[in-house]
Amino acid sequence: MPVPKILISDALSEAAVQSLRERGLAVDFRPELGRDRDALLACIDAYDGLAIRSATRVTEKLLSRAGRLRVIGRAGIGVDNVDVAAATARGVVVMNTPFGNSITTAEHAIAMMFALARQIPQADASTQAGRWEKTRFLGVELTGKTLGIIGCGNIGAVVADRAIGLRLRVVAYDPYLTPERATELGVEKLDLEALLARADIISLHVPLTERTRDILSAETLALTKSGVRIVNCARGGLVDEVALRAALDSGHVAGAAFDVFVTEPAHDNPLFGHPNVVCTPHLGAATREAQENVALQVAEQMADYLVQGAVRNA
Ligand code: MLT
Repeated sequence: MPVPKILISDALSEAAVQSLRERGLAVDFRPELGRDRDALLACIDAYDGLAIRSATRVTEKLLSRAGRLRVIGRAGIGVDNVDVAAATARGVVVMNTPFGNSITTAEHAIAMMFALARQIPQADASTQAGRWEKTRFLGVELTGKTLGIIGCGNIGAVVADRAIGLRLRVVAYDPYLTPERATELGVEKLDLEALLARADIISLHVPLTERTRDILSAETLALTKSGVRIVNCARGGLVDEVALRAALDSGHVAGAAFDVFVTEPAHDNPLFGHPNVVCTPHLGAATREAQENVALQVAEQMADYLVQGAVRNA
């Protein structure tokens, strides 16, 4: 039987290459292809497996050129860049790695909360510009505040755990959260309206679906507490950016920290330029540890499928 061949078309940790080779697979590591559509279209028919992060878009057109393809492995959680229905219709299995970057992403959300509460990016820019504005940056303490987590799965649960350690009260909206799990996590399960009314800080940890798109809209933002702070390290599109900008401009929302945007890469965005907004360029999963974890996990899963037919996280 010919050796299965895998193309890595995004910037995955090279740990994946080694792991795949150790498992007897042939690998081409060509991370530049994620942004070179024509070159990717031209070579995809040579591969049994495609390992990606978020830059490679797997469309119907790409799949139609991928006659040998049997598996797509996403080193990360979101498969928004893959046409899963089209892949499934062609018998191509789509796998993700739902656990490898949860801690790192949760840590980013916590870092964003501190950045908002103490205006760290703004204070840093001011201090390094030679201004010594001690009275300008009066912050708020996180201890004793109520954190509202929307989505209490792998990442939301780690955020809750860290936040409880920081002495915040944690309330959660998640239709899939059982009362037993809520008790185990030490969070209070609420419906969305109750969470919006109680939270001093809201952090989103749900995938983007038709049900969650604009879960924070003009209407739902109006139900939040005056002075609320909002953190989004999950997906662009969960929050209506134009409505949020209006709520920031009116002062109803005291601050927003966003790692993800409706359009990415985000070169321009309704939130940009507001003095109480902190932004990062989709860095939620960007630590050495998380990237190595997801690369190793995706390599293992893809090899197991191509060699033994074992399916995990599909
Ligand atoms: C994910 O879906 O795993 C994260 O958003 C990180 C990434 O895009 O790689």
